Amino acid sequence: MGENVKLDTSLQLTSAVTIKNRFFKSAMSEQLGDKQHNPRPDLARLYGTWAAGGVGLNVTGNVMIDRTALGEPKNVVLDEQSDLALFRQWTKSGTQNNTQLWAQLNHPGKQIPAILTEEPVAPSAIPLTGGLEKGFNTPRALTESEIQAIIQRFATSAGLAKEAGFSGIQIHGAHGYLVSQFLSPRHNQRIDQWGGSAENRMRFVLAVYHAIREKVGQDFPVGIKLNSADFMKDGFTEDESMAVVRALDEAGIDLIEISGGTYESPSMMGANVRESTRRREAYFLEYAEKVRQQIKTTLVVTGGFRSSEAMTAALQSGATDMIGVARPMALQPDLPNKAIADSNYRIAFNRPSTGVKALDRMAMLDITWFEAQLQRIGSKKLPQANLSAWVVVAQMFMSLGKHAFQKRRA
Ligand SMILES: Cc1cc2nc3c(=O)[nH]c(=O)nc-3n(C[C@H](O)[C@H](O)[C@H](O)COP(=O)(O)O)c2cc1C
Repeated sequence: MGENVKLDTSLQLTSAVTIKNRFFKSAMSEQLGDKQHNPRPDLARLYGTWAAGGVGLNVTGNVMIDRTALGEPKNVVLDEQSDLALFRQWTKSGTQNNTQLWAQLNHPGKQIPAILTEEPVAPSAIPLTGGLEKGFNTPRALTESEIQAIIQRFATSAGLAKEAGFSGIQIHGAHGYLVSQFLSPRHNQRIDQWGGSAENRMRFVLAVYHAIREKVGQDFPVGIKLNSADFMKDGFTEDESMAVVRALDEAGIDLIEISGGTYESPSMMGANVRESTRRREAYFLEYAEKVRQQIKTTLVVTGGFRSSEAMTAALQSGATDMIGVARPMALQPDLPNKAIADSNYRIAFNRPSTGVKALDRMAMLDITWFEAQLQRIGSKKLPQANLSAWVVVAQMFMSLGKHAFQKRRA
Protein backbone atom coordinates (compact mmCIF):
# COMPACT_ATOMS: atom_id res chain seq x y z
CA MET A 1 0.00 0.00 0.00
CA GLY A 2 1.00 3.59 -0.43
CA GLU A 3 1.00 4.99 3.15
CA ASN A 4 4.46 6.49 2.79
CA VAL A 5 4.30 7.52 -0.84
CA LYS A 6 4.82 11.21 -1.49
CA LEU A 7 4.40 13.28 -4.62
CA ASP A 8 8.16 13.15 -5.25
CA THR A 9 8.60 9.41 -4.64
CA SER A 10 9.93 7.71 -7.76
CA LEU A 11 7.99 4.88 -9.38
CA GLN A 12 9.47 1.72 -10.88
CA LEU A 13 7.21 1.29 -13.91
CA THR A 14 9.02 -1.69 -15.45
CA SER A 15 12.38 -3.31 -14.78
CA ALA A 16 13.91 -0.83 -17.23
CA VAL A 17 11.86 2.34 -16.59
CA THR A 18 11.72 4.49 -13.47
CA ILE A 19 9.55 7.60 -13.34
CA LYS A 20 11.11 10.30 -11.17
CA ASN A 21 7.93 11.36 -9.34
CA ARG A 22 4.16 10.78 -9.24
CA PHE A 23 3.07 13.59 -11.57
CA PHE A 24 1.42 12.47 -14.78
CA LYS A 25 0.44 15.25 -17.16
CA SER A 26 -2.62 13.90 -18.90
CA ALA A 27 -3.12 14.42 -22.63
CA MET A 28 -4.28 17.83 -23.83
CA SER A 29 -4.75 18.29 -27.54
CA GLU A 30 -2.62 21.29 -28.48
CA GLN A 31 -3.67 21.79 -32.11
CA LEU A 32 -0.11 22.77 -32.92
CA GLY A 33 0.36 20.68 -36.03
CA ASP A 34 1.51 22.38 -39.26
CA LYS A 35 -0.17 22.06 -42.67
CA GLN A 36 1.31 18.59 -43.19
CA HIS A 37 0.29 17.67 -39.60
CA ASN A 38 3.88 17.58 -38.41
CA PRO A 39 4.70 19.15 -35.03
CA ARG A 40 5.29 22.89 -35.11
CA PRO A 41 8.31 24.23 -33.12
CA ASP A 42 5.82 25.59 -30.56
CA LEU A 43 5.33 22.01 -29.37
CA ALA A 44 9.02 21.70 -28.48
CA ARG A 45 8.78 24.96 -26.51
CA LEU A 46 5.59 23.89 -24.72
CA TYR A 47 6.93 20.48 -23.76
CA GLY A 48 10.31 21.92 -22.78
CA THR A 49 8.47 24.25 -20.39
CA TRP A 50 6.61 21.31 -18.86
CA ALA A 51 9.81 19.28 -18.58
CA ALA A 52 11.46 22.15 -16.71
CA GLY A 53 8.38 22.33 -14.45
CA GLY A 54 9.08 18.92 -12.95
CA VAL A 55 6.47 16.56 -14.39
CA GLY A 56 7.50 12.88 -14.21
CA LEU A 57 5.48 11.51 -17.11
CA ASN A 58 4.05 13.76 -19.80
CA VAL A 59 1.51 12.39 -22.29
CA THR A 60 1.12 14.35 -25.53
CA GLY A 61 -2.21 15.57 -26.80
CA ASN A 62 -3.79 13.03 -29.08
CA VAL A 63 -1.67 12.22 -32.12
CA MET A 64 -3.69 10.82 -34.99
CA ILE A 65 -2.84 7.52 -36.60
CA ASP A 66 -4.75 8.22 -39.84
CA ARG A 67 -4.55 11.53 -41.72
CA THR A 68 -7.97 10.97 -43.25
CA ALA A 69 -9.48 10.77 -39.76
CA LEU A 70 -8.57 13.90 -37.79
CA GLY A 71 -10.34 14.82 -34.58
CA GLU A 72 -9.43 18.49 -35.00
CA PRO A 73 -8.07 20.52 -37.93
CA LYS A 74 -4.55 21.07 -36.59
CA ASN A 75 -3.88 17.65 -35.07
CA VAL A 76 -0.44 16.11 -35.36
CA VAL A 77 -0.42 12.86 -37.38
CA LEU A 78 2.20 10.13 -37.06
CA ASP A 79 2.37 7.91 -40.14
CA GLU A 80 4.77 7.01 -42.96
CA GLN A 81 4.47 10.53 -44.40
CA SER A 82 5.49 12.23 -41.15
CA ASP A 83 8.76 14.14 -40.91
CA LEU A 84 10.47 12.35 -38.02
CA ALA A 85 13.17 15.04 -37.77
CA LEU A 86 10.46 17.48 -36.63
CA PHE A 87 9.12 14.92 -34.14
CA ARG A 88 12.67 14.47 -32.80
CA GLN A 89 12.90 18.19 -31.99
CA TRP A 90 9.72 17.76 -29.95
CA THR A 91 10.90 14.63 -28.11
CA LYS A 92 14.37 16.04 -27.45
CA SER A 93 12.89 19.05 -25.73
CA GLY A 94 10.10 17.17 -23.92
CA THR A 95 12.39 14.50 -22.45
CA GLN A 96 14.82 16.98 -20.84
CA ASN A 97 15.17 16.88 -17.07
CA ASN A 98 14.63 13.10 -16.98
CA THR A 99 11.00 13.42 -18.15
CA GLN A 100 9.12 10.51 -19.67
CA LEU A 101 7.32 11.67 -22.81
CA TRP A 102 4.64 9.36 -24.20
CA ALA A 103 2.69 9.87 -27.42
CA GLN A 104 -1.07 9.42 -27.11
CA LEU A 105 -2.30 7.62 -30.24
CA ASN A 106 -5.89 8.12 -31.33
CA HIS A 107 -8.45 7.43 -34.02
CA PRO A 108 -11.58 9.53 -33.44
CA GLY A 109 -14.09 7.23 -35.14
CA LYS A 110 -17.37 9.16 -35.38
CA GLN A 111 -16.19 12.03 -33.17
CA ILE A 112 -14.95 13.99 -36.21
CA PRO A 113 -16.54 17.40 -36.74
CA ALA A 114 -18.62 17.55 -39.94
CA ILE A 115 -16.30 20.21 -41.41
CA LEU A 116 -13.49 17.62 -41.43
CA THR A 117 -15.25 14.70 -43.05
CA GLU A 118 -18.54 13.97 -44.76
CA GLU A 119 -18.58 10.34 -43.75
CA PRO A 120 -16.79 9.31 -40.57
CA VAL A 121 -16.32 5.63 -39.76
CA ALA A 122 -17.35 3.79 -36.60
CA PRO A 123 -18.17 0.27 -35.43
CA SER A 124 -21.82 0.85 -36.38
CA ALA A 125 -23.71 3.49 -38.36
CA ILE A 126 -25.13 5.17 -35.25
CA PRO A 127 -25.05 8.99 -35.03
CA LEU A 128 -24.06 11.00 -31.98
CA THR A 129 -27.02 12.45 -30.07
CA GLY A 130 -27.84 15.26 -27.66
CA GLY A 131 -27.51 18.05 -30.25
CA LEU A 132 -24.10 16.81 -31.47
CA GLU A 133 -25.74 15.36 -34.58
CA LYS A 134 -25.73 18.94 -35.93
CA GLY A 135 -21.95 19.19 -35.92
CA PHE A 136 -21.00 15.55 -36.50
CA ASN A 137 -22.11 13.50 -39.50
CA THR A 138 -23.64 10.05 -39.19
CA PRO A 139 -20.87 7.47 -39.53
CA ARG A 140 -20.69 4.44 -41.78
CA ALA A 141 -19.87 1.03 -40.27
CA LEU A 142 -16.30 -0.16 -40.79
CA THR A 143 -15.66 -3.24 -42.91
CA GLU A 144 -13.59 -6.15 -41.63
CA SER A 145 -10.58 -5.18 -43.75
CA GLU A 146 -10.81 -1.54 -42.62
CA ILE A 147 -10.78 -2.67 -38.99
CA GLN A 148 -7.64 -4.74 -39.63
CA ALA A 149 -6.02 -1.77 -41.39
CA ILE A 150 -6.73 0.57 -38.47
CA ILE A 151 -5.22 -1.94 -36.02
CA GLN A 152 -2.07 -1.97 -38.16
CA ARG A 153 -2.04 1.83 -38.31
CA PHE A 154 -1.94 1.99 -34.51
CA ALA A 155 1.07 -0.36 -34.61
CA THR A 156 2.80 1.66 -37.36
CA SER A 157 2.35 4.91 -35.45
CA ALA A 158 3.65 3.29 -32.26
CA GLY A 159 6.76 2.03 -34.08
CA LEU A 160 7.36 5.52 -35.50
CA ALA A 161 6.85 7.05 -32.04
CA LYS A 162 9.60 4.82 -30.69
CA GLU A 163 11.86 5.74 -33.62
CA ALA A 164 11.17 9.44 -33.08
CA GLY A 165 12.34 9.34 -29.47
CA PHE A 166 9.15 9.16 -27.42
CA SER A 167 9.67 7.21 -24.18
CA GLY A 168 6.39 5.30 -24.48
CA ILE A 169 2.94 5.40 -26.01
CA GLN A 170 -0.59 5.60 -24.71
CA ILE A 171 -3.59 4.20 -26.57
CA HIS A 172 -6.52 6.62 -26.33
CA GLY A 173 -9.23 4.20 -25.26
CA ALA A 174 -11.43 6.78 -23.51
CA HIS A 175 -13.80 9.71 -24.11
CA GLY A 176 -15.93 8.22 -26.88
CA TYR A 177 -13.28 7.93 -29.64
CA LEU A 178 -12.95 4.82 -31.82
CA VAL A 179 -11.53 2.38 -29.24
CA SER A 180 -14.16 3.52 -26.76
CA GLN A 181 -16.88 3.25 -29.45
CA PHE A 182 -15.96 -0.42 -29.95
CA LEU A 183 -16.26 -1.04 -26.20
CA SER A 184 -19.68 0.57 -25.91
CA PRO A 185 -22.83 -1.50 -26.48
CA ARG A 186 -24.60 1.75 -27.39
CA HIS A 187 -22.18 2.57 -30.22
CA ASN A 188 -21.15 -0.94 -31.22
CA GLN A 189 -24.08 -3.02 -32.45
CA ARG A 190 -22.10 -5.24 -34.79
CA ILE A 191 -23.04 -8.87 -35.09
CA ASP A 192 -19.58 -10.13 -36.16
CA GLN A 193 -16.56 -10.97 -33.99
CA TRP A 194 -16.12 -7.24 -33.09
CA GLY A 195 -19.53 -6.68 -31.50
CA GLY A 196 -22.28 -8.16 -29.38
CA SER A 197 -20.88 -9.74 -26.21
CA ALA A 198 -18.57 -7.78 -23.90
CA GLU A 199 -15.82 -10.19 -24.96
CA ASN A 200 -16.33 -9.36 -28.64
CA ARG A 201 -16.49 -5.61 -27.97
CA MET A 202 -13.10 -5.70 -26.22
CA ARG A 203 -11.52 -7.64 -29.10
CA PHE A 204 -10.56 -4.39 -30.89
CA VAL A 205 -8.67 -2.80 -28.00
CA LEU A 206 -6.84 -6.06 -27.29
CA ALA A 207 -5.94 -6.43 -30.97
CA VAL A 208 -4.62 -2.85 -31.01
CA TYR A 209 -2.56 -3.53 -27.88
CA HIS A 210 -1.08 -6.79 -29.22
CA ALA A 211 -0.24 -5.25 -32.62
CA ILE A 212 1.52 -2.35 -30.89
CA ARG A 213 3.38 -4.64 -28.51
CA GLU A 214 4.58 -6.78 -31.39
CA LYS A 215 5.89 -3.67 -33.14
CA VAL A 216 7.63 -1.93 -30.20
CA GLY A 217 8.84 -4.97 -28.24
CA GLN A 218 8.50 -5.94 -24.58
CA ASP A 219 10.65 -3.18 -23.09
CA PHE A 220 8.93 -0.13 -24.55
CA PRO A 221 6.22 1.22 -22.22
CA VAL A 222 2.66 0.91 -23.54
CA GLY A 223 -0.30 2.29 -21.62
CA ILE A 224 -3.95 3.11 -22.18
CA LYS A 225 -6.45 5.75 -21.13
CA LEU A 226 -9.73 4.04 -20.42
CA ASN A 227 -13.17 5.07 -19.27
CA SER A 228 -14.41 3.87 -15.91
CA ALA A 229 -17.80 4.20 -17.64
CA ASP A 230 -19.37 6.27 -20.43
CA PHE A 231 -22.10 7.67 -18.16
CA MET A 232 -24.67 7.15 -20.93
CA LYS A 233 -27.84 5.10 -21.02
CA ASP A 234 -26.98 1.72 -22.60
CA GLY A 235 -23.29 2.72 -22.59
CA PHE A 236 -20.09 1.06 -21.38
CA THR A 237 -20.55 0.26 -17.67
CA GLU A 238 -18.22 0.10 -14.69
CA ASP A 239 -18.40 -3.70 -14.59
CA GLU A 240 -17.53 -3.91 -18.29
CA SER A 241 -14.69 -1.48 -17.79
CA MET A 242 -13.27 -3.64 -15.00
CA ALA A 243 -13.35 -6.68 -17.25
CA VAL A 244 -11.35 -4.74 -19.87
CA VAL A 245 -8.87 -3.61 -17.22
CA ARG A 246 -8.35 -7.22 -16.14
CA ALA A 247 -7.86 -8.38 -19.74
CA LEU A 248 -5.31 -5.62 -20.46
CA ASP A 249 -3.50 -6.36 -17.21
CA GLU A 250 -3.27 -10.02 -18.18
CA ALA A 251 -2.07 -9.06 -21.67
CA GLY A 252 0.84 -7.19 -20.08
CA ILE A 253 -0.01 -3.49 -20.45
CA ASP A 254 2.30 -1.24 -18.41
CA LEU A 255 -0.06 1.51 -17.25
CA ILE A 256 -3.79 2.20 -17.10
CA GLU A 257 -5.08 5.77 -16.80
CA ILE A 258 -8.66 6.05 -15.64
CA SER A 259 -11.02 8.71 -16.90
CA GLY A 260 -14.67 8.65 -17.99
CA GLY A 261 -17.32 10.16 -20.25
CA THR A 262 -17.66 11.06 -23.93
CA TYR A 263 -18.53 14.13 -26.03
CA GLU A 264 -22.18 13.23 -25.37
CA SER A 265 -21.66 13.09 -21.60
CA PRO A 266 -18.42 14.89 -20.65
CA SER A 267 -17.77 13.43 -17.18
CA MET A 268 -14.00 13.67 -17.79
CA MET A 269 -14.36 17.43 -17.34
CA GLY A 270 -16.36 17.08 -14.13
CA ALA A 271 -19.90 17.07 -15.56
CA ASN A 272 -22.46 15.24 -13.37
CA VAL A 273 -19.96 14.79 -10.53
CA ARG A 274 -21.42 14.35 -7.04
CA GLU A 275 -20.55 16.89 -4.33
CA SER A 276 -18.88 14.17 -2.18
CA THR A 277 -16.64 13.28 -5.14
CA ARG A 278 -15.87 16.92 -5.83
CA ARG A 279 -14.62 17.28 -2.27
CA ARG A 280 -12.10 14.48 -2.81
CA GLU A 281 -11.22 16.33 -6.02
CA ALA A 282 -10.56 13.19 -8.12
CA TYR A 283 -13.67 12.29 -10.13
CA PHE A 284 -12.83 8.59 -10.63
CA LEU A 285 -11.11 7.60 -7.41
CA GLU A 286 -13.87 5.32 -6.14
CA TYR A 287 -13.67 3.25 -9.28
CA ALA A 288 -9.86 3.11 -8.99
CA GLU A 289 -10.19 1.80 -5.44
CA LYS A 290 -12.20 -1.13 -6.79
CA VAL A 291 -9.80 -1.74 -9.68
CA ARG A 292 -6.80 -1.67 -7.34
CA GLN A 293 -8.17 -4.74 -5.57
CA GLN A 294 -8.09 -6.67 -8.84
CA ILE A 295 -4.88 -5.80 -10.69
CA LYS A 296 -1.25 -4.90 -10.10
CA THR A 297 -0.63 -2.74 -13.20
CA THR A 298 0.36 0.88 -12.54
CA LEU A 299 -2.80 2.99 -12.19
CA VAL A 300 -3.30 6.70 -12.81
CA VAL A 301 -6.46 8.59 -11.94
CA THR A 302 -7.13 11.79 -13.89
CA GLY A 303 -9.75 14.49 -13.50
CA GLY A 304 -10.32 17.06 -10.76
CA PHE A 305 -7.06 17.13 -8.78
CA ARG A 306 -6.28 20.68 -7.62
CA SER A 307 -4.33 20.49 -4.32
CA SER A 308 -1.22 18.83 -2.87
CA GLU A 309 -3.36 17.62 -0.01
CA ALA A 310 -5.88 15.70 -2.13
CA MET A 311 -3.14 14.38 -4.42
CA THR A 312 -1.11 13.04 -1.50
CA ALA A 313 -4.23 11.56 0.12
CA ALA A 314 -5.10 9.75 -3.13
CA LEU A 315 -1.58 8.32 -3.42
CA GLN A 316 -1.48 7.27 0.20
CA SER A 317 -4.88 5.58 -0.03
CA GLY A 318 -3.20 3.19 -2.47
CA ALA A 319 -5.97 3.67 -5.05
CA THR A 320 -3.70 5.36 -7.57
CA ASP A 321 0.03 5.20 -8.26
CA MET A 322 0.25 8.53 -10.06
CA ILE A 323 -1.70 11.78 -10.14
CA GLY A 324 -3.14 12.66 -13.53
CA VAL A 325 -3.46 16.42 -14.11
CA ALA A 326 -4.49 18.29 -17.25
CA ARG A 327 -6.13 21.75 -17.07
CA PRO A 328 -4.06 22.99 -14.09
CA MET A 329 -0.91 22.26 -16.12
CA ALA A 330 -2.13 24.67 -18.81
CA LEU A 331 -2.25 27.47 -16.26
CA GLN A 332 0.71 26.45 -14.10
CA PRO A 333 3.24 24.46 -16.15
CA ASP A 334 5.54 24.06 -13.13
CA LEU A 335 2.73 22.75 -10.94
CA PRO A 336 4.70 19.57 -10.05
CA ASN A 337 7.64 21.55 -8.66
CA LYS A 338 5.29 23.87 -6.77
CA ALA A 339 3.08 21.11 -5.36
CA ILE A 340 6.10 19.06 -4.26
CA ALA A 341 7.63 22.07 -2.50
CA ASP A 342 4.42 23.18 -0.75
CA SER A 343 2.07 20.77 1.01
CA ASN A 344 -0.57 23.54 1.04
CA TYR A 345 -0.37 24.14 -2.70
CA ARG A 346 -3.76 24.60 -4.37
CA ILE A 347 -4.79 25.91 -7.76
CA ALA A 348 -8.24 27.36 -8.40
CA PHE A 349 -9.83 28.55 -11.62
CA ASN A 350 -13.32 29.28 -12.86
CA ARG A 351 -15.01 27.47 -15.68
CA PRO A 352 -14.37 29.66 -18.75
CA SER A 353 -17.55 31.31 -20.00
CA THR A 354 -18.80 34.15 -22.19
CA GLY A 355 -21.95 34.20 -20.09
CA VAL A 356 -23.90 32.78 -23.06
CA LYS A 357 -24.24 29.06 -22.41
CA ALA A 358 -25.15 28.04 -25.95
CA LEU A 359 -22.12 29.89 -27.31
CA ASP A 360 -19.81 28.33 -24.71
CA ARG A 361 -21.05 24.90 -25.76
CA MET A 362 -20.78 25.60 -29.48
CA ALA A 363 -17.23 26.89 -29.08
CA MET A 364 -16.37 23.94 -26.77
CA LEU A 365 -14.93 26.56 -24.44
CA ASP A 366 -14.10 23.98 -21.74
CA ILE A 367 -11.45 22.77 -24.17
CA THR A 368 -10.63 25.73 -26.42
CA TRP A 369 -9.90 28.18 -23.60
CA PHE A 370 -7.25 25.81 -22.19
CA GLU A 371 -5.95 25.07 -25.67
CA ALA A 372 -5.40 28.82 -26.08
CA GLN A 373 -3.23 28.72 -22.94
CA LEU A 374 -1.12 25.89 -24.40
CA GLN A 375 -0.67 27.92 -27.56
CA ARG A 376 0.45 30.92 -25.50
CA ILE A 377 3.11 28.84 -23.73
CA GLY A 378 4.21 27.40 -27.09
CA SER A 379 4.76 30.92 -28.41
CA LYS A 380 6.88 31.96 -25.41
CA LYS A 381 4.09 33.78 -23.59
CA LEU A 382 2.90 33.14 -20.06
CA PRO A 383 -0.48 31.51 -19.42
CA GLN A 384 -3.14 34.12 -18.71
CA ALA A 385 -5.63 33.23 -15.98
CA ASN A 386 -7.93 36.12 -16.93
CA LEU A 387 -7.87 35.42 -20.68
CA SER A 388 -11.18 36.63 -22.14
CA ALA A 389 -13.53 33.84 -23.23
CA TRP A 390 -14.80 36.18 -25.99
CA VAL A 391 -11.32 36.47 -27.48
CA VAL A 392 -10.99 32.66 -27.55
CA VAL A 393 -14.42 32.27 -29.19
CA ALA A 394 -13.62 34.91 -31.81
CA GLN A 395 -10.25 33.31 -32.63
CA MET A 396 -11.83 29.89 -32.88
CA PHE A 397 -14.54 30.96 -35.28
CA MET A 398 -12.06 32.87 -37.42
CA SER A 399 -9.78 29.85 -37.73
CA LEU A 400 -12.63 27.37 -38.29
CA GLY A 401 -14.23 29.66 -40.87
CA LYS A 402 -10.99 29.76 -42.84
CA HIS A 403 -10.63 26.01 -42.56
CA ALA A 404 -14.20 25.30 -43.64
CA PHE A 405 -13.65 27.57 -46.65
CA GLN A 406 -10.47 25.72 -47.62
CA LYS A 407 -12.28 22.40 -47.26
CA ARG A 408 -15.06 23.48 -49.57
CA ARG A 409 -12.58 24.58 -52.19
CA ALA A 410 -10.51 21.37 -51.91
C1 LIG B 1 -7.56 21.52 -23.89
C2 LIG B 1 -7.83 20.08 -23.53
C3 LIG B 1 -7.52 19.10 -24.44
C4 LIG B 1 -7.70 17.75 -24.11
N1 LIG B 1 -7.29 16.81 -25.01
C5 LIG B 1 -7.29 15.51 -24.63
C6 LIG B 1 -6.70 14.54 -25.47
O1 LIG B 1 -6.15 14.83 -26.55
N2 LIG B 1 -6.71 13.25 -25.04
C7 LIG B 1 -7.26 12.89 -23.83
O2 LIG B 1 -7.22 11.72 -23.49
N3 LIG B 1 -7.84 13.79 -23.03
C8 LIG B 1 -7.84 15.09 -23.38
N4 LIG B 1 -8.35 16.02 -22.51
C9 LIG B 1 -8.89 15.60 -21.20
C10 LIG B 1 -7.81 15.65 -20.11
O3 LIG B 1 -6.73 14.76 -20.39
C11 LIG B 1 -8.39 15.28 -18.73
O4 LIG B 1 -8.90 13.96 -18.79
C12 LIG B 1 -9.47 16.25 -18.25
O5 LIG B 1 -9.13 17.59 -18.55
C13 LIG B 1 -9.70 16.12 -16.74
O6 LIG B 1 -8.53 16.35 -16.01
P1 LIG B 1 -8.26 17.77 -15.24
O7 LIG B 1 -9.41 17.97 -14.29
O8 LIG B 1 -6.95 17.59 -14.54
O9 LIG B 1 -8.24 18.82 -16.29
C14 LIG B 1 -8.24 17.39 -22.84
C15 LIG B 1 -8.60 18.40 -21.94
C16 LIG B 1 -8.40 19.74 -22.26
C17 LIG B 1 -8.75 20.81 -21.25
